[in-house]
Amino acid sequence: MHNRGMGKYDVIVIGAGAAGLMCAGTAAQCGKSVLLLDHAEKVGKKILISGGGRSNFTNRFTTAANYLSQNPHFCKSALSRFSAADFITMVEEAGIAYHERNHGQLFCDDSAKQIVELLMQPCREFGVKIQLNTIISNIQKNEIFELQTNRGVFQADALVVATGGLSIPKMGATPFGLKLAEQFGLKIVPPVAGLAPFTFTGKEKEELQELAGISLGVSVRCRGKVFREAMLFTHRGLSGPAILQISSYWKPGDELEIDLLPDQEITSLLKLKRLSRPLAQLSTVLAELLPKRLVQLLASGHINDDRMQQLSDKQIEHLAYQLHHWRLKPNGTEGYRTAEVTVGGVDTNELSSKTMECRKIPGLYFIGEVMDVTGHLGGFNFQWAWSSGYTAGLAV
Ligand code: FDA
Repeated sequence: MHNRGMGKYDVIVIGAGAAGLMCAGTAAQCGKSVLLLDHAEKVGKKILISGGGRSNFTNRFTTAANYLSQNPHFCKSALSRFSAADFITMVEEAGIAYHERNHGQLFCDDSAKQIVELLMQPCREFGVKIQLNTIISNIQKNEIFELQTNRGVFQADALVVATGGLSIPKMGATPFGLKLAEQFGLKIVPPVAGLAPFTFTGKEKEELQELAGISLGVSVRCRGKVFREAMLFTHRGLSGPAILQISSYWKPGDELEIDLLPDQEITSLLKLKRLSRPLAQLSTVLAELLPKRLVQLLASGHINDDRMQQLSDKQIEHLAYQLHHWRLKPNGTEGYRTAEVTVGGVDTNELSSKTMECRKIPGLYFIGEVMDVTGHLGGFNFQWAWSSGYTAGLAV
């Protein structure tokens, strides 16, 4: 029973981000008294900056294959209980105008603020108590959970941890949820930065800097995963959607294999050019297929810039291989400073996929990015926040 005087609630949710707001609103609609705590000064900060201020709030083609986790099946139950279609229905019923970009990514036409408002509406209507600027100093579980904070002591039968990942500490990301999991003896899959640009050192760094600003469609391969999207050369190394996607799979020491001309059968094309334009330089022909500065870099040491007629079949085949299999070895990623997500987190083996509740600690739940479920780029991380938040909201 709920007794506000003593700061006692049915449910306390820690973290008023995407998953926490979804969970608090859902639990309150089910009749629970809910306290939502956050150390930040406002709710949903990452939602507000997401998608360049328009929030890529879900992806029409969401499936379990869009998530990394040590248990790739874990996310299936929550994703089917509350699917992308369910969130789209919420967005449509609220009259929020949206549009679709590449690969099923959905964005607000106007502002990400509308998504925060959409989540806040049931919280307001069903009486979720939201307490911001709250620093939690201690959590204990006896019969019930007891939280000590700078705003007093709060108690609840159920505690939901929705404190997110470690990316962008400047915006308030903390390892709070992981530390709490450790306190309760739960296993953690070691966290690393995901959806992050790559950095390079030495000669590779110098060469890539020359190309800063160039963007081209490539396919990037690492650890058996392939992404066919745009790649961007930056002053620090490589970025762009293809690179961010593969970075979640990359491990230190791995090479990237980049196909610079993924849709072209370059061997026969160059053989035809050898017949039709025998006197042209190879670099002139390549500059019709690839950005000029990139061709200049290749011609400055990576390939022999002969006339087309001088190229043997073998040389053409070797060149085609190089263009389809450009190998680069990053020295790291830019890390949590710019990463969009955290790969790893609370081990899903500790949790029920039907409720997000800990098997060992009844009443303790983890949802959203704090757990070891990480989406690809394209709206999948918010969808996981909605699906896991809703699932736990029904269960608490
Ligand atoms: P989220 O980070 O949303 O919320 C965690 C909350 O916990 C925060 O309010 C925080 O203040 C609070 N908290 C943390 N530590 C605490 C503590 N010690 N005490 C109290 N409160 C604490 N995804 C996507 O699908 N589409 C997109 O367009 C984008 N865009 C995007 C842009 C940028 C720049 C970033 C960094 C990330 C994205 N993402 C994204 C990823 C997405 O933002 C992320 O996966 C979800 O917000 C995760 O939801 P959670 O609720 O788990 O954490």
